Amino acid sequence: MSAKILMCPPDYYEIKYEINPWMNVEIQSEQSLAKKQWANLYNLLKNDLNVDIKLIEPKKDVPDMVFTANAAVMHGNKAVISKFKPPQRQPEEKYFAEWFEQQGYEVITLKDDMAFEGAGDALYLGNILYSGYVPRTDISSHSYISDLLKIPVVSLELVNSSFYHLDTCFCPLKDDYLIYYPPAFDEYANRIIETNVPAEKRIIVNEEEAASFTCNAVNVDNAVVTNLTSKRFGKLLAEKGFKHYETDLSEFMKAGGAAKCLTLKL
Ligand code: ARG
Repeated sequence: MSAKILMCPPDYYEIKYEINPWMNVEIQSEQSLAKKQWANLYNLLKNDLNVDIKLIEPKKDVPDMVFTANAAVMHGNKAVISKFKPPQRQPEEKYFAEWFEQQGYEVITLKDDMAFEGAGDALYLGNILYSGYVPRTDISSHSYISDLLKIPVVSLELVNSSFYHLDTCFCPLKDDYLIYYPPAFDEYANRIIETNVPAEKRIIVNEEEAASFTCNAVNVDNAVVTNLTSKRFGKLLAEKGFKHYETDLSEFMKAGGAAKCLTLKL
């Protein structure tokens, strides 16, 4: 069975506002290059890695809709739709909810006073849902989602504003491996990770790699897809039996996103 991934074409993508430290409206993305880079990622996933890609129609005035990782967190046939913290992204909620409904998923919406940014801030490792908090997701959503889905949710505090979503600094891989950047987390979160994930399963990126969004990776079987990064990282992956694919996503970095942000595993 091939992996199923949701993507959204970048028709209306641009740097229209600033809601994370990477965004600067003075540094625009180049539209035709962004389209090319998105298509390269799409083709790599679809043709080289045999992923079944589903598309959602892009909408005007919501340029960050390309970052489908933030649509929802999935649990089997259930889609828990995000409640975005920045008002600029809130109009996306109904578009994503409609798509999941049309596709036959059970759509769950959260209470209004609870920010939660979907798979950007909630990732499964083993049977635990690790969830980031402070910058974009409220910790109150964690226990709520745990009760709702009847799964263990472990909260990890993000302390470096450049790594404002969990998926910018934490990426679970097949067989319970983990790519992560320790300085993005507070001491307690680091202790949790070290306790729960054996040392031989942890792939630690350095500062430069973290800044190229190396943790923002898409894992399909033994393949790991990232933005352009170091040779060192490719070697680390190879040692653990993974194959590294790099694809230039410079235009999406300008919005604070890379490979993983542009995808949502269904
Ligand atoms: N500009 C977008 C935002 O700040 C980028 C989202 C990146 N997505 C992610 N899953 N990290 O919301």
